[in-house]
Amino acid sequence: MAIIGGTGRQGPGLALRFAATGLEVLIGSRSLDKAKRIAGEISAKLKAAGIEGAGEVSGLTNEAAAKLAQIGCLTIPYPTYRTALPPLRAELQGKILIDVTVPFVGYKPPEIERPSGGSAAEEVQTLLGDQVKVVGAFKTTPASLLAALERKLAADILVCGDDPQAKAEVIRLIERLDVRAFDAGPLKNSQVLEGLTAMLLSLNVKYKRRALDIRLTGI
Ligand SMILES: NC(=O)c1ccc[n+]([C@@H]2O[C@H](COP(=O)([O-])OP(=O)(O)OC[C@H]3O[C@@H](n4cnc5c(N)ncnc54)[C@H](OP(=O)(O)O)[C@@H]3O)[C@@H](O)[C@H]2O)c1
Repeated sequence: MAIIGGTGRQGPGLALRFAATGLEVLIGSRSLDKAKRIAGEISAKLKAAGIEGAGEVSGLTNEAAAKLAQIGCLTIPYPTYRTALPPLRAELQGKILIDVTVPFVGYKPPEIERPSGGSAAEEVQTLLGDQVKVVGAFKTTPASLLAALERKLAADILVCGDDPQAKAEVIRLIERLDVRAFDAGPLKNSQVLEGLTAMLLSLNVKYKRRALDIRLTGI
């Protein structure tokens, strides 16, 4: 798996969780040095946690990571994908891209916008073209929970996408993390997920919490 912009908050947590299951993870960055440094930190955490059989974590440029991996994961701030994705377009053709981005335009109070009346995920799909299978996931999952490898993820992961096979593959991948993942409908339902993320941040403020997330009941 290649994590595009894997050097921030969300990317390293995802890398840590997936590598702990034995998956090879490529940390992508605009800077090769930064990618290698963060990959080294993640590898050290896996070692310190005594994870046996962890996947290798290495650092590459976003372009090299996107080229090598069969599945990508996009963890860069909105709306930087408008300039960051076009150079990666060719490398991602025919592949799955898990879109984690949320179109925040402010955090105090948490506020998102709807790119072109839709969601960030739909805009990413438009930027990359039909041959890239964009699947929205992890949009409501706080980075701090992903990073806390010693704690099981208790929240559910809702997964949106228009390609049923790609969505099923992403759900299987997420289930490796020992977490529940659900098919939450077409990619346009990312509008709901992205709005929900802003609402969760507001709830964090209101109830003085840091990492509220969601879990379905009755299923
Ligand atoms: N943080 C969370 O708890 C959380 C939860 C759910 C969803 N999300 C979403 O996940 C995405 C990433 O969040 P984050 O908190 O990890 O963001 P972040 O730490 O602010 O940034 C992640 C990485 O994006 C890259 N980046 C920044 N500006 C860029 C640009 N102009 N072009 C290309 N790459 C750029 C940087 O990597 P390099 O400098 O190495 O290139 C940076 O390390 C966001 O869309 C966010 O809304 C975050």
